[in-house]
This record gives sequence, structure tokens and C-alpha cells, in this order.
Amino acid sequence: MTDITLIRPSLDWLPFYARALEQGWSPNTDQDVSREQLLQFRRDPKRFLHDLYNSPMVRLPDGREVARLPAHDFWISDGEFCGRIGFRFQRGTEDMPTAIYGHIGYTIVPWKQRRGYATQALA
Ligand SMILES: CC(C)(COP(=O)(O)OP(=O)(O)OC[C@H]1O[C@@H](n2cnc3c(N)ncnc32)[C@H](O)[C@@H]1OP(=O)(O)O)[C@@H](O)C(=O)NCCC(=O)NCCS
Repeated sequence: MTDITLIRPSLDWLPFYARALEQGWSPNTDQDVSREQLLQFRRDPKRFLHDLYNSPMVRLPDGREVARLPAHDFWISDGEFCGRIGFRFQRGTEDMPTAIYGHIGYTIVPWKQRRGYATQALA
């Protein structure tokens, strides 16, 4: 099996992330954000990357804006861009706010699925 690595989201890799969006991949599982993210990427790549992981608020599928939780976000690489995984948490508790689905969110681009990459990333 090919080994994957977790990499820090970076401007170097951003074009490959955007390419995946262009091919219809949505990094979020609860809503299709590919079009919206592509627009933001094309407007200002640097700002897009910053806001993607550092904006103080995040918008939920129902439109509500909630404070961003502390998180560790990674992109998944096997030499090429394969997807993303992120760990969210609240300090001092294992609980999640009710509006947030879970501690870990991950998506593998369709053309890299069924190769054990999500399993490796979770490990
Ligand atoms: C779910 C997802 C992350 C799996 O990624 P992946 O790298 O293909 O997963 P793995 O190759 O590690 O598969 C692990 C196991 O999950 C199961 N699995 C994965 N994709 C599956 C599918 N489409 N249908 C049924 N079982 C599936 C299988 O049991 C698989 O083992 P196998 O290939 O030996 O049968 C990927 O399909 C995806 O991004 N889906 C959309 C978003 C999503 O559902 N994210 C997860 C919740 S946040």
C-alpha cells in the first residue's frame, strides 16, 4: 500500500487543492462548498487559504455562523493531493457543541478513494 503523509495546508499545494475543487470535490461532507471555495480562491488565493483555517467564525449548512473551534487541519498527500483531514476540539472537554457533527472531518478526492488513505490518515 502507498504511504500517505499529512501535510500542512500551504500556498505551494493550494493549486492542487483548487484543481480538486474544479473537478467537483467538496472538502466538506455536510455541504458542497466546491463552487464557493473556487470563487474565493480565484479572487485571492492567499486570503482564501488563510480564511479557510483561521477565520474566527465558520458558517454551518443551516446558515448559522458559529465561533471556530481549535483545530488541527492537514492535507493528505501520496505525492499528489489526495484530500483533507481535520481534528476539532474544545479545550478541557471531549464534548462537541451540538451544532458540530464530530471531532474529525475528512474527505478523499474520488480518484484516490478505496486505497486505504482515509484509514491511514485517521490512524
Ligand atoms: C469515506 C471516505 C473518506 C473513504 O476514503 P477512502 O480513502 O476511500 O477509505 P479507505 O480506502 O481507507 O477505506 C476504508 C474502508 O471504508 C469502507 N469504504 C470506503 N469507501 C466506501 C464506499 N464507497 N462504500 C462502502 N464502503 C466504503 C470500506 O470498508 C473500506 O475498506 P475496503 O476498501 O478494504 O473495503 C471517502 O469515500 C470520502 O471522502 N467520502 C466522502 C466524504 C465522507 O463521507 N467523509 C467521512 C466522514 S467525515
